[in-house]
Amino acid sequence: MSELNATQIFYHEGTVTRDERAKLLKQSGATLWFTGLSGSGKSTIAVALEQVLIARGHAAYTLDGDNIRFGLNAGPKILMDTRKYSEESAKKFGLAFSAADREENIRRIGEVSKLFADSGLFALTSFISPYRKDRDAARAIHADNKAGAIPFIEVFVNTPIGTCEERDPKGLYKQARAAVAAGKGMGFTGVDDPYEPPLNPELTFDAATQTVQEGVAMIINYLQSKGLVRS
Ligand code: ADX
Repeated sequence: MSELNATQIFYHEGTVTRDERAKLLKQSGATLWFTGLSGSGKSTIAVALEQVLIARGHAAYTLDGDNIRFGLNAGPKILMDTRKYSEESAKKFGLAFSAADREENIRRIGEVSKLFADSGLFALTSFISPYRKDRDAARAIHADNKAGAIPFIEVFVNTPIGTCEERDPKGLYKQARAAVAAGKGMGFTGVDDPYEPPLNPELTFDAATQTVQEGVAMIINYLQSKGLVRS
């Protein structure tokens, strides 16, 4: 079988419009992009917001490490252990934490969240997404969406590293500090790999000083002010 090349692939336009989907779902959808350090509380607030949106009659879905880094973007080890992938393909398609793998992780999540939001849902993404250019690329594909721009709302979960490290729910900061002290390093975000804070996030939340309820209320108020949820 000959290999398909890009010039043989044609984009088949759909015929259902975003307006038609919005009428059906009574909402037009958006991506809420949570970014921040490991242990900053991204998933806690995303999951709480998802519950509130659903309770208010809005369709929403959270993409996080549990459903993406163990599925679509599973790491080589998981692919080899659980899916019987060959070592070669697991290494090729599995994503770990090098800069290139993080970039690809975020690129795929950007594309998937865009599809969810284009379908009319609220897509809530909860990933460190440490590099500004990768988050900006996700924002750009939402703006350039063929069927019309999709709102992309960046929520900076700006919890100080001291608080994240105190919580250290998975013990990874401790491991990373020990690896650095041993002169090896681990490439852990905030310790020996950079986190580039957003310059113009739509919203900012600090789990050290704000409650989850306050954070959710802030986001719902924002969505109301933009006419994206019913009051
Ligand atoms: S991202 O950098 O590509 O956006 P992602 O949010 O998917 O990262 O995954 C981060 C989670 O993976 C962390 O909360 C932590 O549990 C785990 N992790 C494992 N290794 C690392 C690492 N080197 N840096 C950051 N997080 C890591």
